[in-house]
Amino acid sequence: MTLETHSDLGRTSLSWGIRNRLARLIQKDGHCLFLPIDHGYFQGPTTKLEKPGETIKPLLPYCDAIFVTRGVLRSCIDADNKLPIILRVSGGTSMVGDDLAHEGITTSMREAIRLNASAVGLSIFVGSKYEHETLLNLAQLVDEAEEYGIPVMAVTAVGKELEKRDARYLSLSCRIAAELGARVVKTYWCENFDKVVDGCPVPVVMAGGPRVDTEREVFEFVADGMQKGAIGVNLGRNIWKNAYPVAMIKSIRAIVHGKATAEEATTLFEDLKHKVMR
Ligand code: 5RP
Repeated sequence: MTLETHSDLGRTSLSWGIRNRLARLIQKDGHCLFLPIDHGYFQGPTTKLEKPGETIKPLLPYCDAIFVTRGVLRSCIDADNKLPIILRVSGGTSMVGDDLAHEGITTSMREAIRLNASAVGLSIFVGSKYEHETLLNLAQLVDEAEEYGIPVMAVTAVGKELEKRDARYLSLSCRIAAELGARVVKTYWCENFDKVVDGCPVPVVMAGGPRVDTEREVFEFVADGMQKGAIGVNLGRNIWKNAYPVAMIKSIRAIVHGKATAEEATTLFEDLKHKVMR
């Protein structure tokens, strides 16, 4: 599903609380730029996220929400922060453990409310050994979160199996996430991305995945995904691992909120990269 304008949120039969929280996350043009810094929950102090608070400080003015665990939120983000928080509430695995798919719910709904979360996010691992458990985690989380008017963002995770990221697999995962009650689904961009968006009755946002070779590649897939109906991005490593993260986020923002083409975003990036703070 795509949102033509922000007022689409107001026409639905969602509770006021859910609509209000979604309206904080999804901007008036119906689009959004979420900045994920949750990677440490299974990757530890991954490069450029050793001190998450410092990494994201110059990026905060250009994102619409932060996707983060409670631990990093409490210890690295000032409580006077005004940006909406999407709280990562699944985990329990690590890069060196047996299986990244073996996640459970790690944070209670009371804690999400205490932290003033605008949404909660959880990964599902369709096709994995833990498909059943992670899908039931999602269903349970939706039941608990919606009791308090909190929307759930489902993350269609692939663990280390990055080759799974094709339209057939991602459309299956996104649709299942929506069927189980996710209000927003975060997935990867892929070839024929319209198949993924068209089969998903709730808004879709795109993750970036591991860092790609050139900025142009990122701009190309973000622009293509937006054209094919994504409402925005939840994109981390290809922003904060870049040597010019501020130029990167501003250029991605130009696509998401300013309808810039990949070409225009590249020109903007080249122009900004020597002017703005790294
Ligand atoms: C990691 C996540 C991230 O939020 C997601 O993958 C987006 O980040 P990136 O653009 O770096 O892939 O769910 O667990």
